[in-house]
Amino acid sequence: MRDNKIVVLTGAGISACSGVSTFRDADGIWSRVSIDDVATPEAFARDPARVHGFYNDRRRALLDPQIQANSAHKALAVLEKTWPAEVWIVTQNVDDLHERAGSENLIHMHGELIKARCDACSGIHRWRTDLSVDSRCPVCNRIGNLRPDVVWFGEQPQAMEMIYQALKDCQLFISIGTSGTVYPAAGFVDAVAARPQVRTVELNLQPSEGASLFAETRYGPASQIVPEFVAELLSER
Ligand code: APR
Repeated sequence: MRDNKIVVLTGAGISACSGVSTFRDADGIWSRVSIDDVATPEAFARDPARVHGFYNDRRRALLDPQIQANSAHKALAVLEKTWPAEVWIVTQNVDDLHERAGSENLIHMHGELIKARCDACSGIHRWRTDLSVDSRCPVCNRIGNLRPDVVWFGEQPQAMEMIYQALKDCQLFISIGTSGTVYPAAGFVDAVAARPQVRTVELNLQPSEGASLFAETRYGPASQIVPEFVAELLSER
């Protein structure tokens, strides 16, 4: 295992133990609000104030001091620092809990809640306060063109070329806390499992949609099973 590159795909389940809502669990975000109302380019064109309000609430909740990286985020940061080959985290999460835990090789394929993007000049800015239709771009100075730098349904996820390169090079693929329902992320296990020497592992609270595609599966809260799995990996070195 020593020289094996690792790709870790994470989803909302890894942050659930930190108190951040998932999407498709019984009490998840999509049980309270419709995707079509808040998470598509059409929704933003139709009612930008509503969409801003949805992301403002989530940004404020994320920046509440009670929300902290948990032991799963921290274990992955230790893995990156300690593993003798490259470790990449590809996250679908728009929170910054992997960064807070210390991960550096990190790709936010669905964007980031604490960034804003200007539709007029394409500038991307760190943004920790509310956004509104009156927000001004700090670079081009225009008003009304800022949006959350998140990927909506119907949009292309970010950094896909880099992600597929990392998947092509990895010998271990670990999927953590994702329901396996949203593509292209749900298809990553298929892409790596096509190479017979690749080890595929699902770590989740319960079997995901794609559970049968993984060679190994372990179930329980991420804050428990991720540190356990990382400790096992490091002891195998
Ligand atoms: N530990 C581990 N897994 C958990 C935990 C936990 N404490 N709590 C929930 N889970 C699991 C659930 O069982 C579920 O399989 O995490 C998964 C969360 O699934 P979703 O809510 O669908 O989240 P995710 O897979 O990240 O969604 C993908 O959908 O709406 C979009 O853009 C959004 O990035 C998101 C994408």
